[in-house]
Amino acid sequence: MIMLEDLFQSSTSLCLLVAIACLLVFHRVYSSFSSRDQKKAPPGPKPLPLLGNLLQVDLRRPDSSLVHLSKIYGPVFTVYLGQKKIVVLAGYRTVREALVNHAEEFGGREVTPILYDWNKGHGKPFNNSLPINYATSNVISAILFGKRFEYKDPVFQAMVGRDHETIRLIGTASILVYTVFPWLGPCLKNWRMLMKNVEANKEELKRIIVNLKETLDPDMCRCFVDAFLTRKLNLKRLANIVPMAIPHKTSRDVTFQGFFIKEGTAVFPLLTSVLRDENEWESPNSFNPSHFLDENGTFIRRDAFMPFSAGHRVCLGESLARMELFLFFSSLLQRFRFTPPPGVKEEELDLTPTMGFNLSPTPHELCAISRQ
Ligand code: HEM
Repeated sequence: MIMLEDLFQSSTSLCLLVAIACLLVFHRVYSSFSSRDQKKAPPGPKPLPLLGNLLQVDLRRPDSSLVHLSKIYGPVFTVYLGQKKIVVLAGYRTVREALVNHAEEFGGREVTPILYDWNKGHGKPFNNSLPINYATSNVISAILFGKRFEYKDPVFQAMVGRDHETIRLIGTASILVYTVFPWLGPCLKNWRMLMKNVEANKEELKRIIVNLKETLDPDMCRCFVDAFLTRKLNLKRLANIVPMAIPHKTSRDVTFQGFFIKEGTAVFPLLTSVLRDENEWESPNSFNPSHFLDENGTFIRRDAFMPFSAGHRVCLGESLARMELFLFFSSLLQRFRFTPPPGVKEEELDLTPTMGFNLSPTPHELCAISRQ
C-alpha cells in the first residue's frame, strides 16, 4: 500500500505533484478572472492557491471555525476548502430562509467523495455509549430486518463497532483533506480503515439480506427489506447527522440575500450557528431547559430548534429519532439517577463533544443509581 511519506520521497511523484500544483494554481487564477462577472458573489476570506482557506479552518472543529468566520463576513459567505468552493449559510434566519423559502434551489445534495464511497453505522461506573448504540441499532434492525440481536452476539458487536468507528473517522482531519484532494484517498490510513469497515459491514448486510430473500413469504411482510423485495421499493440514500448538516448543492442559479450563487455550488447550512444563534437563544452556549418553557413553566416550541434541518432535505429519521429519544430518556431517567463516577465532581465533567460525521459524547464513565 502506498504511504503518503513514500510518495513524497519518490522524485518522480514529487515532480508530478509540483506539476499538478502549478496546474491548479493556473486554474485558480484563470477561474477567478473568468468568473468576475457583474453578479455579486458572497464575500469571504481571500483563498490561497491550492489550499484555499484551509489555514483559517480548524479541521478538528470546522463548524466552530465557520461560525467564527460568519461573524466577520456575514451570514452568507464563501470559503474554499482547497479548490472546493463552498457557500456557508449561518444563523437561524438565513438557514431557514434558504432551506424553507428557497427549498428548491438549496435542496440538492452535495455528494462528497466519502459519501460517494460509502454508497457504492450505584454500581460500577460504566460507559453508556455502547448499550445506547446497541439499543438504537436494534431498533433500526427490527424495522429493516425484522429481528433484534443479543448484545453479546459477536457479529452484532463487530458491526456496531465498525459503524461507530466509521462515523468517528468521517470527522477526522485526514478525511476532510480527502474531501478536498480525493486523489490522496489510498495514501491516507483513515480512508483505508474506513473503506475496510464499510466493506466488512456491507458483507454482513448482504448475508442478512440473502437469508431474508431465501425465507421470503410474499404474504407475510416481516420487515422493510421484505417490503422492498416484494414491492421493489427504491431506497437510495442512508446518511447521518453533521453539525453543518450534510452538504447541500444549489439545483439552479439563485440570487440569495443579494448575492449570486451559481447552480451546482456546494452549500453548508451551518446548523451549529442556528442552534447557538445569539439572536434566538437567551443563553446559547449553556444547557438551559427554560429555553423551552414560558413564564408559567409550560412547554413552548422554538422555531430555531432545528437539529434535523429543514426543507427538502430535512432528516428522514426525524420522527423515529424523536420517539427513540423520548422513550430512551424518559424510561432511563424514571428508573435511574445518573452521577459522575466516585471522586469526580460535576463541574469537572468535560462536555466537549467528539467530532465525527456527527458530534457525539467524548468517551466517559458514569454511575446509574436505581430510584427504587
Ligand atoms: C437525534 C437523531 C438525529 C438527528 C439530530 C438527525 C439530523 C439530521 C440532519 C441535520 C440531516 C441533514 C439534513 C440536511 O442536509 O439539511 C439528516 C439527514 C438524514 N437523516 Fe437524520 N438525524 C437523526 C436520526 C436519524 C435516524 C434515526 C435516521 C434513520 C432512521 C436518519 C436518517 C436520515 C437520512 C436518510 C437523511 C438524509 C436525507 C436526505 O438526503 O434527503 N436520521 N439527519
